[in-house]
Amino acid sequence: MLWTVTSLLTAATQIESGGTFWMPEQASTVAQSVDFTFDVITWISYFFFFGIVGVLILFMVKYRRKTHSPTTEGPTHNTTIEIVWTVVPLLLVTVIFVVGMRGYLNLVESPEGSYEVSVTAQTWFWTFDHPEYGATQVGELTVPVGKPVRLLMTSQDFLHSLWIPSFRVKMDVIPGRYTTLWFEATKVGDYRLLCTEYCGRDHSNMQAIVHVIPADEFKERMVKLASEYVDMSIDELPAYAINRLYNRCQSCHTKDGSESIGPTFVGLWDRVKSGDVGFTSGEKLSSLYGEGTEYVVPENYIRLSLLNPQKHIVKGFLGAMPSFQGQLKEKQITAIIEMFKHFDDLVDADGNIKVNTDGTPRD
Ligand code: CUA
Repeated sequence: MLWTVTSLLTAATQIESGGTFWMPEQASTVAQSVDFTFDVITWISYFFFFGIVGVLILFMVKYRRKTHSPTTEGPTHNTTIEIVWTVVPLLLVTVIFVVGMRGYLNLVESPEGSYEVSVTAQTWFWTFDHPEYGATQVGELTVPVGKPVRLLMTSQDFLHSLWIPSFRVKMDVIPGRYTTLWFEATKVGDYRLLCTEYCGRDHSNMQAIVHVIPADEFKERMVKLASEYVDMSIDELPAYAINRLYNRCQSCHTKDGSESIGPTFVGLWDRVKSGDVGFTSGEKLSSLYGEGTEYVVPENYIRLSLLNPQKHIVKGFLGAMPSFQGQLKEKQITAIIEMFKHFDDLVDADGNIKVNTDGTPRD
């Protein structure tokens, strides 16, 4: 337990350093004004906390009961004091309002010509689409430094909330509607992105990394990302799928054989190929295979399960899977099927991925 906490803290500090006691590192154009607002309110609070407690203690000592003589009538009111304690707080909240409102107005309207990313939240992962390049990222978001980026966000299921602490931006992500948020990163580096609205079992794992890279490398990186798998041969696809596509499956399908929301991926191909899968309808997969039936070959069953997962629910599970129709290109579907066929070459017995995207062994 302690080890987990320490390693998490180490991981967190490795990715971000250089913050203050209250705030993480400032890495966007709005961070300074947000921190300024926070500091103004904090210093006002310090001033009044110590001022009030100080006077309280002073009065307790100075006016403590010293004799047993009868107490006199206290003053009923004092106009000067009453005006002071009304006007001073009024001025203070006006200052806080003006400072806060200026920051808020700056946060809601994204600048003209921002780079657009569409964000989809789903239990329990983030998908980032770059429409300009046709590239999709899961669990990581690459953006150029020094350029405003606008996120157009929606949720597939529940209420989530996107938060990038170092950028000081945060916005709810709501099913059935769009919300937006923008930022301009000021420093190259990796930053944490979190879900900050409790959304179920793996809420705390609903994280991603924002890679801020130099603007002149950005285009090349995106073009490469969008076409990464296009030129791959079929034997290169499994390593690609386990590294780039599995993170969409990981919240429900384990790779170490343990129980989860959906069937484990360990041994999945063997179960599918032999047809030894029962459905909640009482049917068996093997009876759906063959010429003239639903699935000519087992590969078809996997393909259609990705596109229409509600059709046949595996016995013992609730059928919580969303459709990946439109989210996966045909070649990516092939890559996932190939991943199942070579699962033992990709993942060790503890569920750790053994290969990099380019097929080289991982340390
Ligand atoms: Cu998504 Cu918490």
